[in-house]
Amino acid sequence: MISQKSVEEVLETARVEEVVSDYLTLKRRGVNLIGLCPFHNEKTPSFTVSPTKNIYKCFGCGKAGGSVQFLMEHDNLSFVEAIRTLAKKYNIQLEETFSATKSKEEIEKLESLYIINEFAQKYYRDQLDTDFGKSVALGYFTQRGFRKETLKAFGLGYAPNQKDGLLRLAQQKGYKIEKLREAGLLNQYDTDFFRNRVIFSLYSISGRVIGFAGRILSADAKAPKYINTPETEIYHKRKFLYGLHLTKEHIRRAKNCLIVEGYTDVMTLYQNDIRNVVAASGTSLTEEQVRLIKRYSENVTMIFDGDPAGLKAALRAVDIVLAQGLNVRVVLLPEGEDPDGYLKSIGAEAFADYIESKSEDFILFKTKLLLADAEDNPLLKAQVAKDIVASIALIPALLKRSIYVKECARLMGLDEIVLMQELKTAIATNLKKKKHLHSAGLQADSDLKTRRSAPTQKKETTTDYFQEKALLEVLLKFTDKIYLEEDDITVFQYVLEMIEDVKHTFNDPLFKKIIDHCYTLLDNNKVPNSAYFLNHEDKDIRQFAIEASISPYAYSENWSEKFQIHMHSQKAPDENYHKETLRTVLRFKLRKFDHLIKQNQATIAQTESDAKDSDRLLTLLKLHKVLLEQRKIISDRLGQIVLS
Ligand code: GTP
Ligand code: MN
Repeated sequence: MISQKSVEEVLETARVEEVVSDYLTLKRRGVNLIGLCPFHNEKTPSFTVSPTKNIYKCFGCGKAGGSVQFLMEHDNLSFVEAIRTLAKKYNIQLEETFSATKSKEEIEKLESLYIINEFAQKYYRDQLDTDFGKSVALGYFTQRGFRKETLKAFGLGYAPNQKDGLLRLAQQKGYKIEKLREAGLLNQYDTDFFRNRVIFSLYSISGRVIGFAGRILSADAKAPKYINTPETEIYHKRKFLYGLHLTKEHIRRAKNCLIVEGYTDVMTLYQNDIRNVVAASGTSLTEEQVRLIKRYSENVTMIFDGDPAGLKAALRAVDIVLAQGLNVRVVLLPEGEDPDGYLKSIGAEAFADYIESKSEDFILFKTKLLLADAEDNPLLKAQVAKDIVASIALIPALLKRSIYVKECARLMGLDEIVLMQELKTAIATNLKKKKHLHSAGLQADSDLKTRRSAPTQKKETTTDYFQEKALLEVLLKFTDKIYLEEDDITVFQYVLEMIEDVKHTFNDPLFKKIIDHCYTLLDNNKVPNSAYFLNHEDKDIRQFAIEASISPYAYSENWSEKFQIHMHSQKAPDENYHKETLRTVLRFKLRKFDHLIKQNQATIAQTESDAKDSDRLLTLLKLHKVLLEQRKIISDRLGQIVLS
């Protein structure tokens, strides 16, 4: 695959007028060049090339794009072929990277690792049937209360206390020692890595064996309690969650993911029909693991062992989950308990009740916990406020953030405005960090490629269509222009940040697709420029970006020239993009908030008739108040800028 950097270099270097001139004659007309369209038959030229925008558009047949699309359409090339052609033309050395789509040899290599792991798993499992295995390993599992079918579901086994039991059998069966090494099954002396340990299989999400963990049997303090397969080409610790291959559907159905610490915790919960659970295997959660969870659920409940010393360190892990936009609840087990032990001592039903009733919203939990330490010390309390606000700042949704600020201010007895100010600073710092890791990926994911929707022009029936369209136009047109000078924030970041709380309310399928894609970029710390969208591999996105950049509603040399319209009285929107951006965002939000308020009112009306649900009603009424407040802020600001 061609590296991102090289693709960008090609796109930045290639001049559309030079590329097009290789195929047809262009004549200058004002700031543009025109010629006879190569894509349809015409006698008078309507094929327009804009060197300033580095795009072409035919006003006859509607074909439009940049250098890459021109070659793709004209010479029937793929995206990659077009990039290679341009690289040749401009003498650019392309940097190749490893592809997500693997070559035949690479696939074979991975396949051979899966196969050797399956072989090893069978070996470890068979050891449970030997005399020694039966009495020692199976005995151990049974004594811990694990049933046969649980052992089978989780692929448990036993590695005997032998130097090379696995190695010898593997060689007998014709497996190469090299493969055993690559799979992490041998140690540095080329003998068995796992010895005299009970074995836990580690599975990929799709349920293939990718590695093992071995737990020591004796209480031997010298050796580590667990050893794991080292990183291999198929086992990546950072992307692995124990149990997920069995529990993912349960997580989806329950709309919640319980996170515990240990392998045996997962097994015990699973065996007792609490199946929406995974373990991060002792390490604190990584970003990759959280993204995996997010595929299945927006809500997580983290179950912490009742060990106050480890707790504060564990809290830090939660921030990673918050930053991914997940809703986090936490629950603390009684001192000295872990999920496995506690469930066994109080029973599955009581355990489920405990989790349900004792789990608390993370932010509020953290506030109370830290506050308890600070007591009446104002200095410590200020530190706590900073700490909490840092967590709140990680939450992507604006609405959620403002509710938290209110609640935390109340808990801490602090002024809401002070916390809000603190929050602003924290958010700006976060965005700055993101910005420094900028530069967008240019390969559209395959997802986008397959989900094509019809052209945009005809889709004007859905509600809010115009507000949604205007917002995306601003987003894709002014993308990398700096919106907030002092914080170095681009329009792209600013707009997405501003509409985070209503980002799920897009109606139009194409707009939905574009906005999802934008948030994916943002989540990956990528800040694209407008050329990124103009050259997008996905045809619908590209088309929309092009339309936006030469929209008749916006000032453009193309338009004014064609229709002899000159805008003297008004600053061209391009130069006035701050105001246009803010106004568009506010109009969009106002519209969406009006809907939210209506929806919430309808829900309130429904809930009112249901007398039992007074808690819910109270929450809805609170929400109503917050929504109205937010709406007022938006409309006030809109009023200000319209007047200014
Ligand atoms: P049991 O003690 O058998 O119930 O196991 P556990 O899963 O409850 O273990 P524990 O709560 O002590 O640790 C939680 C998780 O941390 C384990 O499941 C392992 O993934 C990991 N872990 C614990 N000890 C070690 C160790 O010594 N090395 C490594 N690499 N991981 C460990
Ligand atoms: Mn345990």
